[in-house]
This record gives sequence, structure tokens and C-alpha cells, in this order.
Amino acid sequence: MKFLLIGKGGREHAIAWKLMQSKVVTELFLWPGNPGMNHLPDAVFVDQGIVSSHADIVQYCMQQQIDVVVVGPEGPLAEGIADEFSSSGIRCFGPKKGAALLESSKAFSKEVLDAAGIPTASHNVARSRAECESYANERFNKTGGVVLKASGLAAGKGVFVCSEQRQLDAAYDMLYGSFSEAAETVVVEELMIGRECSYFCCLGSGEHRSLGFAVDFKRLEEQDQGPNTGGMGCYTPVPWLPVDAEAEVRRKVIDPLLKELELRGIEYTGFLYVGLMWTKAGPKVVEFNVRLGDPEAQVMAISSKLDWGEVILEKVGLVSDQSSLNLASPAASDSCAVGVVMASESYPYGKDVDPSQLPRQLFDGNQTSQVFAASISADDEGNLLTGSGRVLTVTGCAEDFRSARNYAYKGVDEVAKHWPRARWRRDIAKRVSDEKSNHVL
Ligand code: AMP
Ligand code: GLY
Repeated sequence: MKFLLIGKGGREHAIAWKLMQSKVVTELFLWPGNPGMNHLPDAVFVDQGIVSSHADIVQYCMQQQIDVVVVGPEGPLAEGIADEFSSSGIRCFGPKKGAALLESSKAFSKEVLDAAGIPTASHNVARSRAECESYANERFNKTGGVVLKASGLAAGKGVFVCSEQRQLDAAYDMLYGSFSEAAETVVVEELMIGRECSYFCCLGSGEHRSLGFAVDFKRLEEQDQGPNTGGMGCYTPVPWLPVDAEAEVRRKVIDPLLKELELRGIEYTGFLYVGLMWTKAGPKVVEFNVRLGDPEAQVMAISSKLDWGEVILEKVGLVSDQSSLNLASPAASDSCAVGVVMASESYPYGKDVDPSQLPRQLFDGNQTSQVFAASISADDEGNLLTGSGRVLTVTGCAEDFRSARNYAYKGVDEVAKHWPRARWRRDIAKRVSDEKSNHVL
């Protein structure tokens, strides 16, 4: 089958690498991909200079007779690219605009969570400072904590988690000072106490297929200090969860969500990312995303024993014979994987002007270690150059976390020989690799 993947980040490199190993993928097209993906044998890079709009890519897919399009990032989904493919009769693995609202609108996702009875933080919506202070003070005085979210700001930037009075006072000053425009509407939430992780699955035709759980390290600095980022590393699976965690998430989150969407006439085909706080009372949803995480996709790809091509075909309704699939639940059999993000020196504040050259062989990985590229460009001679932001995710995969970390950090050291000014955290998955007992909340 002919697959076309949309996106150009580390997440898409991981999806492409995984699809290349699928027994059902005969050709893989990348729109646009990135030069770090050049090692993928026979992948076709579709030039974004020529095929530049959604209408162009729909037409290109029709001309090339693409069987299924996989959408990596949330942006095109929020803009309705899946609706455009669907109108042209092209199968698309990625939700339509109405379902993509689960990520693009916090208000919609909270409304669905409440209507479906899915455990999540209780909340109020405040439209003035006075209202915000009244709701927040009441929650804080009752429970000793509260979370304030400026609903106009994305990427966790306008989120204030307050468990001390001085944090709450500082949050009011920020929200109604520098963030005042984004803070016209502020969501005042219950502070959920627990350990954070995410759950990933593939939804669409047939039964839902789990890709398992992962933990992301969001802060820039070691020991979870410094500003929030898109994620500086992660690991999968999550051994500190209870053994029946997956069944609990299906029962409390996925099944009611699908039922609620169905009641509203909304279909969901695509990856689903459920951000969770695992509390003493079990899972509570922090957020939904309509895509895989980055760098979570990188560790899921290297550890997962599933054939993602087969799963995707099943979800878009292109598999008629279910018994031909080798789709047993992966959780028990998956290996441990650790991903370490290598970012530019200036991340997350600015752009690096002085790139380093990386040898191509760095991307010739295997099933125990693979480097995934995000912000990589090629010069006129085809040399690979580091860009800005999160540039690489170096992954390691093994039977236990200690060995998986060793593979990942060995890979990081190798890259650092060529790119000494990179920044990365040295403590990714350290705690989980040191932890003796399994279920530690
Ligand atoms: P968000 O942008 O909503 O994903 O929030 C960013 C981060 O803030 C999350 O990853 C959590 O670590 C934290 N957070 C958000 N909401 C809550 C909550 N209600 N209770 C505890 N932590 C939260
Ligand atoms: N790593 C977090 C995310 O992809 O949103």
C-alpha cells in the first residue's frame, strides 16, 4: 500500500521509520519530511516548494493514487486537512476538524470530559480578575492548591500551578499584567496531585489499539527546573503504574469519550494522546491531543512490537480480514525505551546562528539505538546541519531501563563529538531506572 506522511519533525521521523518496517507499506511519501530522514530507503520526499497548499497535496495524492495519508502534527488537522482528504475520497489517519477541537479548544475538551463523566480537574471559568480571585481563593483555601490557565495561550506557557500563597499572588500579577490579553478568560482548576504520564492509542474502525504509556520531561533543566519546553526526553513503558492501568484508562476515559463523540455525531480516526495525572483515585485527564507526542512518538516507535502500518490500515477501514492481523495488545511484550532530546544552545529562547555539521552515519541506527531528526537542514553539498530548537531525539531500547539509558546516552555522546554546543538533560529516566519497586505513586 502507498502511504503518505505529513510533517517534518522528530515525531514524523519516528513514524516514517516505523512505517518503513511495516509489511504492508510498499511505498512511503513524505510531505515534506526533513533531510535527517534521508537514510530511509526509497522514501519519496514531496517538495513543499511545488506542492505547497492543502489543495495541492490532496491533488498530488489523487495523482499518485496514495492509499492512506497519515497526519503527524495537529496544525493541519485543526485546519481541516482530514476533511479535505475525505471529500476527495482519500483515506486519512488523523481526525477531522470537529474532532481535532479536542486539542485546539480547551473549552470544548473540558465540555466533552464533563459530559462524558471522565475524571478530570473540576474547574470554573473566570472573565475578570475579581472573579478569578474569588474562584481561586476559594479552591486554594479549601484544598491548599489551585491551577490557573490563561485560555488564550498555548504550550503550557500561561499555566500556573500554585500550591503556595506566594505562587498564587505571582500568578494573578502575571495573568493580569503581561498576559492580560490572553487572560481575558482564565480557567481556574482543581490542583490534581499525582504522577504525570500519557497514554497513546489508535482509534478508528475496529477495536482501539493501544500504543501504551510514556512519561515526558517537560522542564529544560535537570531535576525538573527551568522553563517548560515541548519535552526534553521521555521513557516508555511506565512501570510505576498499576498493572491494570490500561484497562482502567479504557474504562474511565476512552470508552466514555468515544460514546460521547458518537452522541455528538463526531467520528474519530487517528492517534489519540491522553495527558494524565495518575492520582490516588486513579487516572484523571489533564488534556487530549489529536496526535502522537514529540518525543514520545520516538520512544514508542522503537519499543513497540506492533506493525503501525497494519494498525493504520485497520483504523482507516482498509483491512477486511481481521484475522490476518498480528495485533495482540503490545503492552506486555514491549521493551523499555528512553529518548534524550538534544536541543540548540539557545532553546527555548532563540535561534542558533552557528550550525554544526553532523555525519550521515549518525542516523543509521538499529533496533537498540536510533537518532531521530527534527530541526536539520542540508547545505548545497548535501551536508546535514543542526538547526534551532529541539534538533534530535536520541533513543535507546532494551529489556530494562538501565540498558536503554546506556544506549541512549552512548548515542548522545557520539553526537556531542560533532556538536559540542548542544544542550540536553542527563537525568532522563534516571529515577525510573533506579526505582526498585514498581507501583510508586
Ligand atoms: P496544559 O498546558 O494544560 O497541558 O498544562 C501544562 C502542565 O501543567 C501539565 O503538563 C501539568 O504538569 C500541569 N497541570 C495542568 N493542569 C493541572 C492540574 N489541574 N493539576 C495539576 N497539574 C496541572
Ligand atoms: N511532548 C509533549 C507533546 O508532544 O505535547
